[in-house]
This record gives sequence, C-alpha cells and structure tokens, in this order.
Amino acid sequence: MLTLKNKISIITGASSGIGKATAILFSNLGSKLVLVGRDEKALDETISQCNPEIKNDILKVAGDLNCADTCKNIVEQAVNRFGVINILVNAAGILKSGSLENMKMEDYELSMNTNVKSAINLTQLCLPYLIKEKGSVVNVSSVTGTRSFPGVLPYCISKAALDQFTKCVALELADKGVRVNSVNPGVIVTNLHRRAGQTEEVYSKFLENCKNTHALGRPGTADEVANTIAFLASDSASFITGELVHVDGGRHAMTPR
Ligand SMILES: NC(=O)c1ccc[n+]([C@@H]2O[C@H](COP(=O)([O-])OP(=O)(O)OC[C@H]3O[C@@H](n4cnc5c(N)ncnc54)[C@H](OP(=O)(O)O)[C@@H]3O)[C@@H](O)[C@H]2O)c1
Repeated sequence: MLTLKNKISIITGASSGIGKATAILFSNLGSKLVLVGRDEKALDETISQCNPEIKNDILKVAGDLNCADTCKNIVEQAVNRFGVINILVNAAGILKSGSLENMKMEDYELSMNTNVKSAINLTQLCLPYLIKEKGSVVNVSSVTGTRSFPGVLPYCISKAALDQFTKCVALELADKGVRVNSVNPGVIVTNLHRRAGQTEEVYSKFLENCKNTHALGRPGTADEVANTIAFLASDSASFITGELVHVDGGRHAMTPR
C-alpha cells in the first residue's frame, strides 16, 4: 500500500493548485511536511486542510524561490526541525505566454528562473540530505516540456529544460540511490492560467476546449496529479527513475488527423 509514513517532504508551490493538493495528500499518507510558497495566508489555508494527525509536524516557509536566500533558508529550517530530508517536490511554477515575435525577454528570464533555476538551486541544496536518505525528487513539469505548442514559448522552453534536468540528474544520482522523476500534466484546473492573465471568460472557453485537446475529453484535477507525484515519491516506485510521467488525459499521444 502506498505510504509516506515518517518521510520528511519539502513541497514548493504548496500555497495553491497542484502543490497544495500534493501537500494535503502527503499529510494523509503520513509524511511530515515543509511547505513553501510566497502567500503565507494561502499556506495556512493548505495547512488547515492537512491531516490533523501531522499538524504539529508541518513547517511553513514563506518566500520567493527566485531569491537564493529563500532556498538556503528552506533547507536550513527543514534540517533544523526534522534532521533529514527524504523527498523534494518542485511544484512551484508560472506560465508566461508569447511567441518569438512578441515574447518579452523579461518573461523568458522569469520563466527560466522560476520554473528551472529555482528547482535546480533547491535540489542542489537538498542533495547531501537526499543522498544520505536515498531519497527522491519529483519535478512538476508539463506536457509542454515534451510536446511543442505555438504561442507559449517561454513556458515550453522552461519545461523542456526541466525535463532534461530530471533525466540528467536521475543518471547522475542513480548510483547514490536517489531517484528523480517528473510529472508532465496537461491542462489542470488551478490558478495558473488566470494568473497568467486569462479572463474568466477566456479561461472557461479554454477548459471547454479540453474536450477536444485531451483524449479523455476533459481537463484534469490537482488531485489527479498529486496521486502520481505521491506514487513517484514513494518507495512504491523504487525501480523508477529518469521518468517523465504524463498526467494529461492522453494529450501527449494525440496527433491531429
Ligand atoms: N495547471 C496546469 O494546467 C498545469 C499544467 C502543467 C503543468 N503545471 C505546473 O504545475 C505547477 C503548479 O502550478 P499550478 O497549476 O498549481 O498553478 P498555481 O495554482 O498558480 O500555483 C503555483 C504555485 O507556485 C508558487 N510560485 C510561483 N512562483 C513562485 C516564486 N517565485 N516563489 C515561490 N513560489 C512561487 C505559487 O506560490 P504563491 O501563490 O504563494 O505565490 C503557487 O503556490 C507549475 O510548475 C506549473 O507549471 C500546471
């Protein structure tokens, strides 16, 4: 049976969407938690929905992952409190649109910093502890990492880079017993797209169109992604590393005809 009992897990993006659902599920599977986000109130809301049995074993760290000091602080606080780190889930991310013709370089830089550099930085800082515990890392990528879409260039490039990070580091750490995998979701109902600027009207049309863009005929839920993250992070996935798991209702397998 899937369990994360007594594991110490750091989850970024825990204040919203996929990271939040992951935090709640991990708490129900027995993991002690270090929850990261910028919005402290939203982190408190996540904690209020976690399993009451582990409420005293949740550490909240608020901060911007694009500041190197935040990443250092997360690891220092986690180790001071729990002594070990077993699992790192890099779920924080942003969506910036734009094509080559109109993309702003600042959007490209922010996408690469938030979606790639901060995950690399935090993983590197956690590494000695992950090696000690033969732990695991799950990166939250996207179907846009493995498939190409026009008009979301900074996002696609950042997720493709994250996928290469997952696979390279999985090979680097395999002989140390640390597994590194990713989930690559399709459209999931969270705050991501509205934060990227979609109005309610545009967003609801976008979700409606998932009937056509996803083989299963609908967008996914954050819980559906969290289930796969928990599996990959757990000892149940002990022979899986360097894998990119699409949680996308079959979107990656579709070809127009
Ligand atoms: N939703 C989808 O359709 C979809 C599809 C494929 C992949 N994904 C990926 O799933 C991951 C989670 O996204 P979501 O859909 O759950 O979106 P969301 O609801 O907007 O949540 C994004 C999370 O990332 C955090 N975050 C963003 N920038 C940060 C920064 N600089 N420092 C610290 N935290 C930061 C946010 O923290 P605060 O709110 O506290 O600022 C929030 O917790 C992202 O990597 C995204 O690319 C989502």
